[in-house]
Amino acid sequence: MMTPIGIFDSGYGGLTILEQIRKRLPQYDYLYLGDNARSPYGNRSFEVVYEFTLQAVQWLFRRGCRLVILACNTASAKALRTIQQKDLPAIDPERRVLGVIRPTVERLNKITGSFHIGILGTQGTITSQSYPLEIEKLFPGMVVECEACPMWVPLVENNEYDKPGADYFVKQHIENVLRKDLLIDTLVLACTHYPLLENKIRKYLPGEIRLVSQGQLVAESLEDYLHRHPEIASECSENGICRFYTTESEEKFASMASMFLKGKIEAERVNLENAG
Ligand code: DGL
Repeated sequence: MMTPIGIFDSGYGGLTILEQIRKRLPQYDYLYLGDNARSPYGNRSFEVVYEFTLQAVQWLFRRGCRLVILACNTASAKALRTIQQKDLPAIDPERRVLGVIRPTVERLNKITGSFHIGILGTQGTITSQSYPLEIEKLFPGMVVECEACPMWVPLVENNEYDKPGADYFVKQHIENVLRKDLLIDTLVLACTHYPLLENKIRKYLPGEIRLVSQGQLVAESLEDYLHRHPEIASECSENGICRFYTTESEEKFASMASMFLKGKIEAERVNLENAG
């Protein structure tokens, strides 16, 4: 029986994390689940993001996952803590759910020189204050400015991310965040959809500013986690298989995901509400 690692996102963004994880840890089996039918999560309330995320986690558990990565900052910001503290002990204390915020923040001190950071994320991630709070815990001297970019996820989900219309929204938010603190030398793409906008972002970014994508950081952190937790690692099956599930049309998911991952994939449609 397969015990894959579950990777969850509201839509396509988590594929940017999956790609890096598979590059680093190709031996494991993975299930990717995108809740495309209900994406984006970015402007949804705490309760709704929590409810949807919990449904996804339970679905992945039912499919055999022992370990689930919330490859979504919005879900990590709004649902991870409650799931870890309240739900997991009741569902199965042996299973694990991890997010993407801590692995990203942990490594920031190695990237910034000025210790002035800009965070770009969805409205939900920014309003939750998760990044400034986590940064304050690990690096109290670091100065953080945040900018919500509510149009960026819809641009990706609707395949408009490399079209000319996207430039307006990208330029606007890059200029806004850099104006907030002239000492910022590092911008964090704190949403797993944003790496798809990277070419456009770089167009409006002064050359000396570093851009942090999470994929590699999360992959390194997962490798380290599995190393430190052999009891979890030994439970993850190793056939190098990856399967894709979506709550929207499977054809649409397969064609978009194939584009993002630059390889053909097949997807299956599932229903999270009816314990499908
Ligand atoms: N990829 C999700 C994130 O990292 C996007 C959230 C959304 O659906 O708005 O925040």
